[in-house]
Amino acid sequence: MSVDSYKLAAARRALGFVEPRMRLGLGTGSTASVFVELLGAQVREGLSVLCVPTSEQTRALARSLDIPLSTLDETPLLDLTIDGADELDSELRLIKGGGGALLREKIVATASDRMIVIADAQKRVDKLGRFPLPVEVVRFGITATRNMIEMLAGDSGCHGEITLRLKPDGTPFVTDGGNLIFDCAFGQIDDPESLDEALKFIPGVVENGLFLGIADAAIIGGPEGVSVIEARYGEGQEAV
Ligand code: A5P
Repeated sequence: MSVDSYKLAAARRALGFVEPRMRLGLGTGSTASVFVELLGAQVREGLSVLCVPTSEQTRALARSLDIPLSTLDETPLLDLTIDGADELDSELRLIKGGGGALLREKIVATASDRMIVIADAQKRVDKLGRFPLPVEVVRFGITATRNMIEMLAGDSGCHGEITLRLKPDGTPFVTDGGNLIFDCAFGQIDDPESLDEALKFIPGVVENGLFLGIADAAIIGGPEGVSVIEARYGEGQEAV
């Protein structure tokens, strides 16, 4: 079984949480895209849902599948958001933003009654931080902002290389909101809450990729099948 089949298994299982007439948040990334494709097939068969995408990329994919779309301004309260993650721990704390959509992802997830994460088993970690933490920043004063990230993250026990995300052509990666991203290779983050608080203190930081207390459940596909972690109810195994 491949990572792709684990993503598919998780996305399939997540489809079971979708009910007719739900207002859905659609995540960004390869796993979320698998979910959107499956949802598109259901819509073709008559499922009625209204969806708010977390990125222009996902909007384009959903539109190509004729999934009914809205914006968060038109539909500010959502029933459920399904999204991927770059990392998650046993307390359902996440690192997100590998695809650069962290700001809209966090806004949409927070506007939803429930957020369910779909991921392959490689995303599970004991402690967050193997994946460099994305931090979205405004362009103005970027060097001062970078230095403050370094200083305040250091006060929270996090040290490591802070790199401006570039596109393959060497120019800065620009988010859907027109901002830039620093990828912070802190390694193991012992106290995510304290780091999150520190980063929120910096004026040039728009948002960071730590999703704390946001996910309600995670559906993880792996070699043993699909495991579901609920925010309160622990973990159970199911066959794929
Ligand atoms: C997008 O900005 C991210 O938060 C994605 O949800 C995350 O990177 C997971 O993407 P994959 O499903 O492609 O691993």
